[in-house]
Amino acid sequence: MKRTKILRLLKSDSPAGRVLIKGWIRTRRDSKDFSFIELNDGSCLKNMQIVADSALDNYEDVKKLTTGSAAAVSGELIASPGKGQKWEIRAHKIEIISIAPESYPLQKKRHTDEFLRTIAHLRPRTNKYGAAFRIRSELSYAIHKFFRDRDFRYIHSPILTGSDCEGAGEMFSVTTLDIGNPPKKEGNIDYALDFFGREANLTVSGQLSAEMFALALGDVYTFGPTFRAENSNTRRHAAEFWMVEPEMAFCDLTGNMDIAEEFIKYLTVYIMEECKDDLELFAKFVDKKLMRTLENIASSDYVRLPYREAVEILKRTGKKFEYAVDYGKDLQTEHERYLTEHHFKKPVIVFDYPKTIKPFYMRVNDDNETVGAMDLLVPSVGEIIGGSQREERLESLRSRMKETGLPEEDYWWYMDTRRFGTVPHSGFGLGFERLLMLVTGIRNIRDVIPFPRTPNSIEF
Ligand code: 4AD
Ligand code: MG
Repeated sequence: MKRTKILRLLKSDSPAGRVLIKGWIRTRRDSKDFSFIELNDGSCLKNMQIVADSALDNYEDVKKLTTGSAAAVSGELIASPGKGQKWEIRAHKIEIISIAPESYPLQKKRHTDEFLRTIAHLRPRTNKYGAAFRIRSELSYAIHKFFRDRDFRYIHSPILTGSDCEGAGEMFSVTTLDIGNPPKKEGNIDYALDFFGREANLTVSGQLSAEMFALALGDVYTFGPTFRAENSNTRRHAAEFWMVEPEMAFCDLTGNMDIAEEFIKYLTVYIMEECKDDLELFAKFVDKKLMRTLENIASSDYVRLPYREAVEILKRTGKKFEYAVDYGKDLQTEHERYLTEHHFKKPVIVFDYPKTIKPFYMRVNDDNETVGAMDLLVPSVGEIIGGSQREERLESLRSRMKETGLPEEDYWWYMDTRRFGTVPHSGFGLGFERLLMLVTGIRNIRDVIPFPRTPNSIEF
């Protein structure tokens, strides 16, 4: 007999008759003639109630099933007379697959997030983390669906690269040289003898690759892991995180903002409709205001605010920030959150940042002082998307590269696209984990990544 998932059984409207499910015991409660078992198979938040009759051959063994043990149950799916569940299974047979000892760390009480991080290999078995990682999976699907429905093509950008897209120098280097005794030339490490014949690193962004493909296939996106060696131990930065990067040919900054807004709304609505049970858990136990926040994200018109005006608003508030606000300085999380949570009370897109605080590829505006950048800010998380219109004019690009100290010879291929058939184009990067923080209300990025990588932490 084929195994069914509990999720499928709960969705059915009529009893399916004889079924087989396999999973892990959450609880067991014995009465005089029966044992009631809550079995969870990870397919959904809900458990299946199993009623084990004392007439079962191995009833004495069934009564030894502890929390965390694994079992296969076949029996009749029937309407449950008890409260709290639609169906239950009258077991005909319970096969014990393994018995977990009493030392199983996930006993019934609630554990702290900090403790669960120390057992990241077991935490997806809890209700909260099971729900978080099911939502992570659903959101990945929704991202592909959003783009596919709009005729975007999915590009696999390389993870090993020789360029620093963001120019922030926050890269993990990749080498096969003996770091204890590297070959040297004139006192410096001789990377000509390294695997790629030059310095290489893990990618910080797939954007440059996406641009090349947008200028060939029209509308494309990447969705993959990116790496940043930022030594900032904050609750919203990880050393390894996933980024979604659409890139659109024949698209200006306004078109870019339109897609970013449509994208965030689409994903929020998708999760509200498709992950009701899992989301309810977060609304109940993690963030009481979650549903209101999501309604707001899904239905409001996002504010579009030039950077200059954002700075003026922040200066006028009289609120004491940890970091002072000044034209020409990047906005900090506290500033971003103030704008979206307190001032406008909805998502805000800040655009036209000073070029001095932005990377080389952003399109220089006519004022020659700002660039066509845009950041989308949301409550509690702050910046969730960063994007821009790209500099499509070869000469402007050249002077920006000079200003930011990028050697032309390393980017000849990038510049080539501005020589041959260049067109206005735009794109952005969505931090996938930040999106997960937004839709679940989970406050720490470490808790939306299966096995988080942060400074001093690479266990599991
Ligand atoms: O603003 P960023 O640095 O933009 C880029 O990388 C562009 N190349 C994207 C593009 O235009 N194609 O990063 C984009 C987003 C941020 O808004 C943030 O949500 C997320 O990536 N992000 C991080 N998420 C987790 N941990 C980190 N260390 C992150 N750094 C950026
Ligand atoms: Mg950014």
